[in-house]
Amino acid sequence: MSLEIAPLREEDIPALIALARDIWHRHYPSIISVEQIEYMLAQRYTPEVIGAQLRSGRAWWDKLLLDGVMVAFSACEPGEHEGELKLDKLYVRCDLHGRGYGSLLLRNAQQRAREMGCRRLYLQVNRRNRGAIETYLRNGFSISREAKFDIGHGFIMDDYVMSKDIELEAGQ
Ligand SMILES: CC(C)(COP(=O)(O)OP(=O)(O)OC[C@H]1O[C@@H](n2cnc3c(N)ncnc32)[C@H](O)[C@@H]1OP(=O)(O)O)[C@@H](O)C(=O)NCCC(=O)NCCS
Repeated sequence: MSLEIAPLREEDIPALIALARDIWHRHYPSIISVEQIEYMLAQRYTPEVIGAQLRSGRAWWDKLLLDGVMVAFSACEPGEHEGELKLDKLYVRCDLHGRGYGSLLLRNAQQRAREMGCRRLYLQVNRRNRGAIETYLRNGFSISREAKFDIGHGFIMDDYVMSKDIELEAGQ
């Protein structure tokens, strides 16, 4: 079995969108409505949006390949404040949850934060997404605050902001 993390390329975008759609439609119906899932996918997972992010040089998308097949991905972007990196996306194919792949991508994001000299890595997670919250807690994140976002069309993101301080010297 081979496992590899590599930067996402433009040619990976169709496979990534298919993977994201599959994960969202399997995972989120117990958390948000199917209408909200479709609305959020349409905002975030189009070739135009992802392609523009890749070309901007201000977002870092990574794919995790299991025997050459993309089974998970993450994306980071500069945080709101100096010295912060935001983990904007972290998704693992649903039949592979609980095998450490999410934690692997989290450690990869932490390493990126360290290399960029960031002192803090943070993310947003739906308050009802218990499995993901558990994963972040197990990886040393803690809940900083609750945050509600009006994303239009009557949809609300009801999130926790979770964060982790990054050791700049020693890896972990
Ligand atoms: C959240 C997610 C990225 C975590 O990735 P993963 O590969 O499943 O997580 P890991 O295998 O690295 O698990 C990390 C820890 O969290 C725990 N965990 C994972 N899912 C859990 C769940 N549903 N309930 C309780 N604990 C859970 C694991 O037990 C593990 O702890 P351990 O190593 O001490 O046993 C993945 O489950 C996922 O893609 N979920 C659906 C999409 C999603 O919610 N993404 C996050 C958006 S903010």
